[in-house]
Amino acid sequence: MSSYENWDRTYSKRPLEALPWELGRPRKSLVELVEKKLIKPGKALDLCCGVGTHAIYLTKKGFQVTAIDISSHAVDYAKEKARKVNAKIQFHVQSFLNLENFEDDEFDFVLDIGCFHHVKVKDRDTFLNGVYSVLKKTNPYFVFCFSHRNGPAWNHFTEDDMIQIFSKFYNIKNIQHVESVEGDSNVRYFWAVLMEKK
Ligand SMILES: C[S@@+](CC[C@H](N)C(=O)[O-])C[C@H]1O[C@@H](n2cnc3c(N)ncnc32)[C@H](O)[C@@H]1O
Repeated sequence: MSSYENWDRTYSKRPLEALPWELGRPRKSLVELVEKKLIKPGKALDLCCGVGTHAIYLTKKGFQVTAIDISSHAVDYAKEKARKVNAKIQFHVQSFLNLENFEDDEFDFVLDIGCFHHVKVKDRDTFLNGVYSVLKKTNPYFVFCFSHRNGPAWNHFTEDDMIQIFSKFYNIKNIQHVESVEGDSNVRYFWAVLMEKK
């Protein structure tokens, strides 16, 4: 079992209210981009959909959403939530390291909220190449990930780190530092980065 698969235990053992990232509403940074039409409706891939909050939001805004997560418990929650609000979403229990079942250039938009910062350094190239393949050229990729302001850790990034990691594949259109009160009432810091595939 890879360490990624431990996520399923997290979802099976903890109530949704105890998950710090599950705010019960879509992140403001994504909502603003959609409202400003910087991300336009089309075929979207949610890379780590969790319990489906962002996938459902995008569907309600006119996107055709495919949503993946490695945790079958999370996907079961997400399917149930989507069913209740009549949101038609293609869900798959699938790792972000295995995107081969999707066509090259299949998606108009890739959403990555709380996902990239969980990609192990050894898997980073596989992840970046996979995402790059499935996204159409010049189209948006939105990353929301931990910033260095949370304290030193392998997956807490500076602005320079973000630019260095992503600028090989993407033109960075907008990068914002975000302070957020999370579901556990603690403040955490993130980078909200909108980029376009080169
Ligand atoms: C911090 S949560 C974010 C969930 C969701 N995007 C949100 O904002 O509520 C991280 C998610 O990544 C998923 N995940 C972790 N490793 C994964 C992998 N290798 N492939 C797909 N999903 C993965 C976890 O199961 C978890 O749902």
